[in-house]
Amino acid sequence: MSDEKNPPAQPTPRPGAPRQRDEPRRDAPRPEGAQPHEPRRDGPQRDEPRPDAPRRHGPHHDGPEPGQSASARDTGVPGRAAEPGGAVYPDLAGKVAVVTGASRGIGAETARALAAQGVAVCLVGRDRAALFSVVDEIGRGGGTATGAVTDVTDARALAALAHRVTDELGPVDVLAAFAGGRSAPLPALEMTEERWRRTLDTELTSAFLTVRTFLPGMVERGSGVVLTLSSSAGRRPGTPDIAYGAAHAGLSMLTGQLAAEVGPYGVRVNCLAPSSIRTEKVRRDMPPEEQHRTALRHPLRRMGEPGDVASTALFLASDAASWLTGLTVDVAGGRITG
Ligand SMILES: NC(=O)c1ccc[n+]([C@@H]2O[C@H](COP(=O)([O-])OP(=O)(O)OC[C@H]3O[C@@H](n4cnc5c(N)ncnc54)[C@H](OP(=O)(O)O)[C@@H]3O)[C@@H](O)[C@H]2O)c1
Repeated sequence: MSDEKNPPAQPTPRPGAPRQRDEPRRDAPRPEGAQPHEPRRDGPQRDEPRPDAPRRHGPHHDGPEPGQSASARDTGVPGRAAEPGGAVYPDLAGKVAVVTGASRGIGAETARALAAQGVAVCLVGRDRAALFSVVDEIGRGGGTATGAVTDVTDARALAALAHRVTDELGPVDVLAAFAGGRSAPLPALEMTEERWRRTLDTELTSAFLTVRTFLPGMVERGSGVVLTLSSSAGRRPGTPDIAYGAAHAGLSMLTGQLAAEVGPYGVRVNCLAPSSIRTEKVRRDMPPEEQHRTALRHPLRRMGEPGDVASTALFLASDAASWLTGLTVDVAGGRITG
């Protein structure tokens, strides 16, 4: 790993020194205004904003009207997107997370959401400018974030990343192996061997290598949470790209297999399988009429937002999900069968 390819991670300013391994976490600083996450016994009203809700993080300058999600506004169908800032998981504060694929899209939103819970986050991607714009944004909002330019298909670069994160932030408690991305789909009869191998490398082998890098530390400490990212394309036949579908189905099995193996060591492993998430790329590239049609293919009649995935990731990372492992959660607006 050359210095040019993997320059030192750049921490944003943050209060205090890195958490020490045995330091208790429950008294770690919480995000401003944060309160423990507990159901309201007086029954919360669906549209009523929580007075104690922490500040919404992330670049949502063009936010929807109250009571309407951005998806609903843009696609012309009703529905509300999850807001990861709306729930607080006190056990997450003070923990250390690595999020791959965090320079944009689902990974970036998950990194913002974790940082808003008081987690020190190392964001990983290849596009330096995009990556550090998210790192800086989190830092400006008072969160703790570092960035590491790393290709997650490169096992040696991942090993170097693990050393650096541990040195700078401490042992990794939460790993979100979210890097990936699809190319223009190819039908099976046009699939080349090269393209097949590349897709499996980027989508599936990268997740395996990433998990394999961080898992030994979690097993040794007897705790940790791993999250992987599949897709509705891996949950049912019919995806336009056979390699992408197979790779994402593989992620689900990788997750279940790992969960069975490392559960006895106190490590939980779960997978998120989103459908039709309106990342900045999707918003930019998918014409509004197609967004509308896509929304209508989901029982909840909207497309997903990155926040829908991030809020599920927060829950699965937290102790609120301490009895859940080996699952693939369809973050799919009910579109789970066709
Ligand atoms: N958006 C959806 O509707 C949707 C639905 C289901 C599943 N998914 C899957 O979820 C994953 C993330 O999706 P997204 O929509 O957030 O994609 P995105 O906006 O294209 O972001 C992909 C992220 O992965 C990173 N990445 C890709 N290859 C990498 C590599 N080799 N090393 C390091 N980082 C790498 C990219 O970083 P750099 O560009 O900086 O390298 C970027 O941060 C993908 O696997 C995607 O297929 C997406």
